Amino acid sequence: MTSLSAAAGNVPALSIVDLKKRYDNGVEALKGVSLDVEPGDFFALLGPNGAGKSTTIGIISSLVNLTSGSVKVFGVDIATHRDAAMRLIGLVPQEINFNLFEKPYDILVNYAGFYGTPRDEAGPRAEEELKRAQLWDKAFMMSRTLSGGMKRRLMIARAMMTRPRLLILDEPTAGVDIEIRRGMWKTLKEINTAGTTIILTTHYLEEAESLCRNLAIINHGRIVQQGPMRALLAQLDVEGFLFDIDGELPAELPVIEGTTLIATDPHTLDLDMPRAMDLNRVFEALAAAGIRVRSMRTKSNRLEELFVRMIAAPAATSTEASA
Ligand SMILES: Nc1ncnc2c1ncn2[C@@H]1O[C@H](COP(=O)(O)OP(=O)(O)O)[C@@H](O)[C@H]1O
Ligand SMILES: [Mg+2]
Repeated sequence: MTSLSAAAGNVPALSIVDLKKRYDNGVEALKGVSLDVEPGDFFALLGPNGAGKSTTIGIISSLVNLTSGSVKVFGVDIATHRDAAMRLIGLVPQEINFNLFEKPYDILVNYAGFYGTPRDEAGPRAEEELKRAQLWDKAFMMSRTLSGGMKRRLMIARAMMTRPRLLILDEPTAGVDIEIRRGMWKTLKEINTAGTTIILTTHYLEEAESLCRNLAIINHGRIVQQGPMRALLAQLDVEGFLFDIDGELPAELPVIEGTTLIATDPHTLDLDMPRAMDLNRVFEALAAAGIRVRSMRTKSNRLEELFVRMIAAPAATSTEASA
C-alpha cells in the first residue's frame, strides 16, 4: 500500500448519488440512480437492453452530460474536476473503435501518447499489456487480421495503457461466443487481482455470477437490487410452493427446519425452502401433523421473475400468459 492510497482511506472507487438523465428527446434514461463501488471491487451493473447501463457509463466517463445528481471517481467530482477524474478511468466501449489498419503495438503507444505518456515509456508498457492480453505475437500485424476475441482483448489492453485505477467496460462480451467470453473473463480477473477496480455492464446473469463480488441490477433507469453477488444467489436458491389443504389446518403448524411455512388462508400453505432440500421431508412433517395436501404448485420467486423478464429479449413482452 502506498501512502497515497492509505491517505485515501475508505473513499469509494465510484460514488453516484441520485443521478438523473433526461435526453433531449425527453427520454428519462436515469430516474435517480445511487451506487457505491468499493476500491478493488469487481462490480457488475446488470440489466436488460434500454435499462440505462450505457447512459450511466457514458456519464461516468464524461461522454454524456448528466441532468442532475453527482458522480465521484475516487473522491474526484466529474463535474468540477473532469480531467482529473478522467485520468483515473479506463474505458472499454461496446463497439470496436480502433483503426483496423493500424498495428496493435502502434494503437497502444499512440493512445498512451494521446494521454501524455512519453514514447520511451509507452513502448515497454505496450509490450507488457500485449503480453497480458496474449497478443504479443500479433503486435506488428494489421489489426484487421485479428479475430473477434483478439480485437476485444486489444480494447482492454489499450484502456490499461494509462494505468487506470478504475476500468469500466460496457457489455464487453455482448454477442461474442462462449470461448472468447471465458478468455476475456480470465484477463479481467487478472487485471482485478493486480489491483484495478473493475465495473462492467452486462445483461448476462452468468457473466456477473462468474466474475463479480458485488452488483446492482438496473431496470427502467432505476436500481432495483444492490448488494453482494453471494446474497443475491442465496435468494435465487430459495424455492417456493403453495399447498392446497384438504380440511382444516391445525392451530399450530409444524416447524420444518430450514424452511418458512405460513398459512395464507385456512386452506392454503405457503412454503419457502432451499432448492437443494428434499420435498419428502416436508410431506412427512405435514402428514405427521395431520395435514393432507390435495395439490401443490410452485410459487414463482419474485427475483427470479425479474431475471426472466430481464434476460428475455426486449421484444418478448407481455407473454406472461403463455408461461
Ligand atoms: N442519445 C440518446 N438520445 C435519446 N435517448 C437515448 C439516447 N441514448 C439512450 N437513450 C435511451 O435511454 C434509455 C437507456 O438507454 P441505454 O443507457 O443505452 O440502456 P442500456 O445500455 O442499458 O441498453 C433507452 O430508452 C434509450 O432508448
Ligand atoms: Mg448499452
